[in-house]
Amino acid sequence: MSHDVKGERNSFPTSSLGYNAYRIVELSKCVIITARKVSGMNERSLLDISQLSRQDILDILSDAHDFSASKRDWQLPHPGLVANLFFEPSTRTHYSFAAAELGLGLKAEDYTPLTGSTQKGESFRDTCLTFQALGYDLLVIRSPQERYYDEIADLRIPVINAGDGAGSHPTQCLLDLMTIQEEFATFEGLKVAIIGDIAHSRVANSDYQALTALGARVVCAGPEEFAREGFPFTSVDEAIEGADVVMTLRIQFERLKEGMSITREEYHQRYGLTAARAQSLKPGCIILHPAPINRGLEIDSELVECPRSRIFKQMENGTYVRKAVIKRAFNLLPFREE
Ligand code: CP
Repeated sequence: MSHDVKGERNSFPTSSLGYNAYRIVELSKCVIITARKVSGMNERSLLDISQLSRQDILDILSDAHDFSASKRDWQLPHPGLVANLFFEPSTRTHYSFAAAELGLGLKAEDYTPLTGSTQKGESFRDTCLTFQALGYDLLVIRSPQERYYDEIADLRIPVINAGDGAGSHPTQCLLDLMTIQEEFATFEGLKVAIIGDIAHSRVANSDYQALTALGARVVCAGPEEFAREGFPFTSVDEAIEGADVVMTLRIQFERLKEGMSITREEYHQRYGLTAARAQSLKPGCIILHPAPINRGLEIDSELVECPRSRIFKQMENGTYVRKAVIKRAFNLLPFREE
């Protein structure tokens, strides 16, 4: 898709995506960076939170904040086509991407392996190459396979990772950061407790990396069998003591080959965020959960909607953060740099 820019036909082939920055074109109130084709993954892809600098993260959060406040009706200055490829179940990520795409004025199509040619044996790579050939500008992909994106590193169009197995979940991480930033304004010096199935959680992985890089102290807790190499691990009670943020995680039963070594009741009592445990949370401490939630297992049902809970706020922020990440994928500068 080529775009009309100030009445001139943009001579760059296909979309303005898939290129490194070379040319800046003013378009109404936005500045678009169009660019030349490069080999390797498009630099506007978002695959892993570690690829973002501190400044990149703050820019995305700033745009997400603007989307939540003064720019609720803001739309991209040109049309675009997005494919949401979900090879693993999702409610929040899938439908908040859909809401973000719609809000930005994009045309979005959903692909699921149940109804697509995956059923006829088509490979993941060929499915992605097909969407690129069909003229799609952006792929949003969730897969149970860790680092699935290595298979499509040569795509010209950008990819936003909507979760890869137990690997990364960069947009969940960014919405968690936004929710924490709204509460505390800074990450520096905060104590963040992440409790539960750390080993299989892409959210724990991404959040640990980002929060640590931003100056927070992250402490993990849960059964030993759910510890993750290199992550500080302690008891639940020590983790939540003095914590500013307590995040509980779902047990990723779908990634447990041999189930859990303890019963659900034992888990709830020993590692769950119970109402009794929540009594010891310090004033101002907020409760997060990436969801989906198993009420009564990793968290008592009454805590899900208690005054400390920001769980549904996280979901709301998901749409703003995803708008910001999509805007970045479409080569637009952060609002504050315009
Ligand atoms: N938090 C999260 O990724 O939820 P979904 O699996 O519903 O997208």
